[in-house]
Amino acid sequence: MELSLFTKLKIAGYVIKQLITKPTFNKYNPDDTQDYYKNPNPLNLEMLTGKKIFFAPRIAAWVLSLDRDGLFEFAKDERFSVSFKDWRFAPAVKPESEQDDLEKLISGLLMSMDRGDHRRIRRLVQPAFSPRNIHKMQDIVDRVVDEAIETISKKTGPFNLADITAEIPLKITSELVGVDTSYRKEFKGLADAIMATYAPEGDINYSLAKSGIDTVKAVILDRRENPRDDFISVLVQTADEDGDRLSIEEVMAFVASLMTAGPDTTQHFLNFAIQTFITHPDVIPQINKNPQIIDDAITEALRMNYFSHSGGVRFAREDVVLEGQQIKKGEMIKFNVNAGNIDPDTFEDPLKFDITRKNLNDVFIFGSGSHFCVAAALAKAIGRTFALKLLGNFPTLRLVEEPTYEKDFISRKMVTFMVEY
Ligand code: HEM
Repeated sequence: MELSLFTKLKIAGYVIKQLITKPTFNKYNPDDTQDYYKNPNPLNLEMLTGKKIFFAPRIAAWVLSLDRDGLFEFAKDERFSVSFKDWRFAPAVKPESEQDDLEKLISGLLMSMDRGDHRRIRRLVQPAFSPRNIHKMQDIVDRVVDEAIETISKKTGPFNLADITAEIPLKITSELVGVDTSYRKEFKGLADAIMATYAPEGDINYSLAKSGIDTVKAVILDRRENPRDDFISVLVQTADEDGDRLSIEEVMAFVASLMTAGPDTTQHFLNFAIQTFITHPDVIPQINKNPQIIDDAITEALRMNYFSHSGGVRFAREDVVLEGQQIKKGEMIKFNVNAGNIDPDTFEDPLKFDITRKNLNDVFIFGSGSHFCVAAALAKAIGRTFALKLLGNFPTLRLVEEPTYEKDFISRKMVTFMVEY
């Protein structure tokens, strides 16, 4: 998000005032890629038990660590918005006639859309995620994962698994939306440009984003004229019983939503699941012997090793009191997913990796409420397919050194994930 110097000064003033008047927590450092990113659980447990809410000056936001039930409730609490435009320092939204293509796309993103409009889009995109279409997506998933396994099988020494897991969701999402995989760079450029709007200090590469928009638009226009038996054609063509259908701009914005929310999360999802398995190698033969336990194993891995460091983002729509703390309209709140997932009242011995837990449905992975991950079934299919093929083909896969991480507003982004087999 590009902020003017004036806004940056206003934020600095706000932070100083908050620092003086509000509770903070010195141990919390969302830039600490050395310790906090490696294992956020000790600090998250500390927050859950003693520091449920505090102001974090580094990110100009409140950090909220609730127990498991509180986490699920908070994620769907209508008093908080998912949209950055509701941040008190967000640049004013331009009138539609003055918006460029990227700005138009961003204002139509599903994850920052509100109530009525959001419900309508979710209803209209639903057919694209029908069981039949999910089944067809599995063919794409199988093919892309097989290519990754082939690449891994050529490795003769240590290699960076993060390079491979980065490509898998990007290729799957490109194929899904009909963009030739040779345009992955443009596609990623567009996704990165949109993601940058989610970080207060994000940088945007406009020319790559523009090429990405042109690439996606060309596919949508083509499918309108020449429908095929594919995901994008379903989106372009499906109308509900009242004849309501998505406009070209809405399909564009939905595709952009998938590109923004899909590739990075899925890469982290794969990295942290695999990291958990190979650091608990006893589980590998169990999975290979009983592949049907893979979904539980992945859920448990993500429960204690979720990829975000301190969670998702919300903005107060009104003045509210949270955990006894007055939150002002427009303030940003990071809700700590990791803390809820290691809540000892819900998950006995929470830091123990136990794939036989009976309450794995209680784990927060894909969200809660109306913004629940629209592609959760696809994401699970990618995780399941990759983990089974990887562990099945390379059961001796092991970590060569501790992964390294890059600073990120939301995720514990692995830069190197060196493994060998
Ligand atoms: C594999 C790992 C994934 C995880 C853990 C994940 C998790 C989530 C979560 C927690 C939310 C809700 C965010 C909130 O409430 O603020 C969400 C929303 C969303 N996800 Fe996923 N996701 C994953 C993969 C994907 C993929 C592969 C796609 C698309 C190809 C996708 C598309 C979306 C979209 C469009 C939304 C916004 C839904 C809405 O606002 O209605 N996600 N995801």
